[in-house]
Amino acid sequence: MTAKSIMDSVLRDPTDFGDGDYPTALVNVTNVCNLQCSHCFVFRSDNPNDAHDKMNDETMLRHLEALRDKHNIKSMLFMGGEPMIRKDLVMKAAELFEMPAIVTNATYGIPKLPGGLVTVSLDGPEELNDPIRGTGVFKKVKAAVQARDRSDGTTVILQMVLTAQNDQGLEDFVEEVKDWPIDGIALTFYVPCIDDDTGLAWENLADRDQVIDRAIAIKQKYPTLIKANIGALELMYSDRSLNYTGEKGEHCLMLATLPLYMGDGGNFERTFCCYGNDVDCSRCGAYSVFNTSFHRLVKGEDDYHHRTRHVPEYGKE
Ligand SMILES: C[S@@+](CC[C@H](N)C(=O)[O-])C[C@H]1O[C@@H](n2cnc3c(N)ncnc32)[C@H](O)[C@@H]1O
Ligand code: SF4
Ligand code: SF4
Repeated sequence: MTAKSIMDSVLRDPTDFGDGDYPTALVNVTNVCNLQCSHCFVFRSDNPNDAHDKMNDETMLRHLEALRDKHNIKSMLFMGGEPMIRKDLVMKAAELFEMPAIVTNATYGIPKLPGGLVTVSLDGPEELNDPIRGTGVFKKVKAAVQARDRSDGTTVILQMVLTAQNDQGLEDFVEEVKDWPIDGIALTFYVPCIDDDTGLAWENLADRDQVIDRAIAIKQKYPTLIKANIGALELMYSDRSLNYTGEKGEHCLMLATLPLYMGDGGNFERTFCCYGNDVDCSRCGAYSVFNTSFHRLVKGEDDYHHRTRHVPEYGKE
């Protein structure tokens, strides 16, 4: 890179996303990842995800600050790729936001984010997680969780993405991790792409209902540990879920979130939704979609944020 091209990239304006307010946003700080999870939406062909597209630290900090002020962003979720590949940047950028959160595969350890939320992805007990996330990943993540300092002010929860290939491990997973030094377990369901042929989605929505029954049962067994509202899980049943997603996202409240993907030439680009482009909304299993609807429609909370820094509220009925 010449001195001029470095200056050009440092001084360029952030991408224009219009004038709307986005209290919640997410940012893919890198398109690079050390894992290749079989269910990952980021690396689908229709999404901005080229590893060569990069934005340097100064530019990203400046753009995030400008977008925060323009769109009134309060809650920022740091994602990737694997965000901890750019840990120093993420820790600086997190200070820009009232409600920072990180979602990580935890293979680089667990970041400290006092007052914030760190979500650690694990997709079942070892024999089900590792075929999805890679050999040895379960043990590595377990060691990272065991090594964390619980008094550092960070809220750490595990997140399991339920798919047609790992759902049988739900109960064993919860039993295995329930005594780990964590603040809870989040459950969410697979978000397929259009014409998904991975075998990870249930054939039809009705086949997912029995997994929702089991998610509700495990919530009833461990009401504090499982960070899910029964009311939100009930909205996912096949006879009503389309009311909260729509065939093409027309009922989805998550479209109020600004997804900042890393696009061409290292410029932010927004995708159709947080889960990228080419998503099959009619089979979407994103818990946050239903939880946001639950709060908005059932409880009448107009400005509910789907992420908060307080776990008791996050899991509250
Ligand atoms: C895309 S990852 C990025 C952050 C980090 N690399 C990680 O794995 O946590 C963010 C979260 O999305 C989840 N995820 C990936 N593909 C998904 C899909 N198709 N449906 C639902 N969740 C998915 C991951 O399991 C992870 O919890
Ligand atoms: S670790 Fe995260 S970003 Fe990387 S492939 Fe897995 S789900 Fe995708
Ligand atoms: S895939 Fe899910 S989160 Fe994305 S727009 Fe559709 S319903 Fe909403």
